[in-house]
Amino acid sequence: MRSTVQGITVHGFAANRKPISRQPTHCAAIPRKGRHLGLPLPTHPPPTHLPIHPPTHPLPMSPSTDIAIIGAGPQALTLVTHLLQKKAAMRNRFVVIDPAGEWLHQWHHQFRALEIPHLRSPAVHHPDPNPHALRTFAEGRPDELFPPYALPSTALFHDFCDSVIQRWNLADRVLAGTVQHLELCQVLGRQRFRLSLADGRQLLARRVVLAIAGGTPQIPNWARQIPQTYPSQRLRHSSQIDLRGLSLAGERILIVGSGLTSGHLALGATARGAQVILMARRQVYAKLFDAEPGWLGPKYLKGFQAEPSWLRRWQMIQQARNGGSVTPAMLLRLRRLERQSRLTFYEQCQVQRSEWKGDAWRVHCSAEAEHDCIAHLPIDRIWLATGSQMNIDRWPLLADVRATHPIEIVHGMPVLDHHLRWPGCNLFIMGGAAALQLGPVARNLFGGRLASDRIVPALVKPSLGQSRPAASLTA
Ligand SMILES: Cc1cc2nc3c(=O)[nH]c(=O)nc-3n(C[C@H](O)[C@H](O)[C@H](O)COP(=O)(O)OP(=O)(O)OC[C@H]3O[C@@H](n4cnc5c(N)ncnc54)[C@H](O)[C@@H]3O)c2cc1C
Ligand SMILES: NC(=O)c1ccc[n+]([C@@H]2O[C@H](COP(=O)([O-])OP(=O)(O)OC[C@H]3O[C@@H](n4cnc5c(N)ncnc54)[C@H](OP(=O)(O)O)[C@@H]3O)[C@@H](O)[C@H]2O)c1
Repeated sequence: MRSTVQGITVHGFAANRKPISRQPTHCAAIPRKGRHLGLPLPTHPPPTHLPIHPPTHPLPMSPSTDIAIIGAGPQALTLVTHLLQKKAAMRNRFVVIDPAGEWLHQWHHQFRALEIPHLRSPAVHHPDPNPHALRTFAEGRPDELFPPYALPSTALFHDFCDSVIQRWNLADRVLAGTVQHLELCQVLGRQRFRLSLADGRQLLARRVVLAIAGGTPQIPNWARQIPQTYPSQRLRHSSQIDLRGLSLAGERILIVGSGLTSGHLALGATARGAQVILMARRQVYAKLFDAEPGWLGPKYLKGFQAEPSWLRRWQMIQQARNGGSVTPAMLLRLRRLERQSRLTFYEQCQVQRSEWKGDAWRVHCSAEAEHDCIAHLPIDRIWLATGSQMNIDRWPLLADVRATHPIEIVHGMPVLDHHLRWPGCNLFIMGGAAALQLGPVARNLFGGRLASDRIVPALVKPSLGQSRPAASLTA
């Protein structure tokens, strides 16, 4: 089944899943001179590590690596710099795979597409192990650290990340590819992962780190129910919108949601001459960061990590983030637009249904009786700034691992071990999906640091390298 927001698959990968094998399969062996993936591929492990099957084995041969990192966003970059800082000899033991074939492609795209001038997080949050590195880098560019807590400009952060990539000599370490299947298999009695890429290439890995972010766009029910008879540009989730090049003069745009994305979309639309209605199912509220700074250290994390109930931890995460929020500076700008009659707030209000009639939307809200309703206003575009949902049930990559190593999942989040490892196998997960261990900032830049502190020791110390089965896991 596909969502009615054209171009976004909300459900549906289940139908594409290949049959699940309940037992780990046998993998073909892997000569280091096997089919090359197009990288100066890491040549670890030594030949004895992944012994070659007898020549009669029917499966094709694949190249191998010790660690395969899937995704090349800021979380993966943070992991790699921390790994190399801990043990430089790991340099030739990992490969990073991302569709873009380069670091931070998705990050840079989202900042450009929404025309975001600076980060929400302060200058100490970045992928380098030295927390002061960005401050030092910014020394000639003080006007690019925005108050109140030195928020780096988008350009400064971009240049800094480029310098990190250069300094750690990582520019050519990302292999262009999309991992489509992740399968556990046995090579002469040893557990391995077989990664199948969309173009048919395969790779064997001893350990895998998933750094794919992995949130799926949140599409409200009313939007799912709209028949796909409207021009696709007229209903979009924020992740599909690129403000650059849009002509919006004279249009009326309904933006749904009250997180920071809705604010940037509202600024972009009004700057292009559109009239904006910003609809929030709550009172729009301001907060500097996604979660209070106490969640970056022991102040709140101590109590969180002492909490034995995974469900209670999940509730603590929801409470700490408390839905979507804008920054105080953004709220000021939105209120100014309101005073200039370029933006109208519809708060504590939700769309009930929407229909495409002629050349515009007719939108009925849930509070029609209580305020000046928008049903009579033709609306040119609806933008869903409704965020994303973290639910690993929607990760087709995990189908095989989940079948062979079932674990507890709480509201879509996996219960991982202390090292963010899937119990029973050497699969590590970073990003928002690790939040039951890391807390509410898991998906942010700082979450990459918290995750690296847990994952790196397990990658470099053989004594920590054994993943225990799910049954042995306690919070
Ligand atoms: C608009 C916006 C602004 C944000 N601003 C901030 C901020 O200022 N400060 C902050 O702390 N946080 C911010 N965040 C939150 C978070 O830090 C970012 O979303 C960040 O990009 C997450 O990093 P990541 O590495 O987990 O994911 P991503 O940057 O999304 O990288 C994941 C990568 O994995 C790749 N991938 C996915 N599936 C596969 C696959 N099957 N095979 C291979 N590769 C795959 C993707 O293509 C992508 O390149 C922001 C989020 C958004 C949406
Ligand atoms: N650096 C930057 O400048 C920048 C810019 C944009 C985003 N970001 C970051 O990116 C992340 C995502 O931000 P985001 O704004 O995209 O998402 P978000 O913070 O999750 O906000 C989503 C909004 O959509 C609303 N919503 C969700 N489902 C809805 C539904 N069915 N009907 C009506 N409303 C619904 C939520 O309402 P409730 O509040 O009621 O739950 C919330 O207001 C955040 O971490 C944010 O800080 C940073």
